Amino acid sequence: MPRIAVFVSGGGSNLQALIESEVGKHIVLVIADRPAKALQRARDAGIIDTLEFSRKALGRERLCEEIQKAVEAYAIDLIVLAGYLSIFTEEFSARWRGRMINIHPALLPKFGGKGMYGRHVHEAVIAAGEKESGCTVHFVGEGVDRGKIILQARVPVLEGDTPESLAARVLEQEHKALPAAVLRVIGES
Ligand code: GRF
Repeated sequence: MPRIAVFVSGGGSNLQALIESEVGKHIVLVIADRPAKALQRARDAGIIDTLEFSRKALGRERLCEEIQKAVEAYAIDLIVLAGYLSIFTEEFSARWRGRMINIHPALLPKFGGKGMYGRHVHEAVIAAGEKESGCTVHFVGEGVDRGKIILQARVPVLEGDTPESLAARVLEQEHKALPAAVLRVIGES
């Protein structure tokens, strides 16, 4: 029975989708790098434990050290980044190679990398005149938003789309893609 930790930084709608899917029974810990509404979703769902760290107060190295202690203490097998915004140290990423996945709201490798998160992604897609966008679930590899792609879901970019309307269309697909990708990785689909 794989033990999953979900890392969050924001509203937690992707976490909610995981909780409501077959993945939910495997989630034993939710970690946030800042005060995040997602933690309340975890508590409301009766997730065994939540931990809130302050990336601002700790800085990158210390944050990764604290997180490593926590995931070891909980005997975590797989880390799922669901709207998690802090960048890991190379050491942490290397230690979790093949056991840490992320969801990105675009069709990587395009529109990924430093600074490409949230609204910025959808603004760039629209500005580039793309006819389609979507989301990508991938293993966390070297650098930001790189690593082996597990699955992607596509949506059309419509005439008159704003970053908000495109984000909403992509998010709908994220809520299906992330649980499906996790189940595939843990061999339950
Ligand atoms: C999603 O768009 C996800 O692709 C990105 O951050 C957002 C998280 O949203 N990584 P939520 O906190 O899961 O609602």
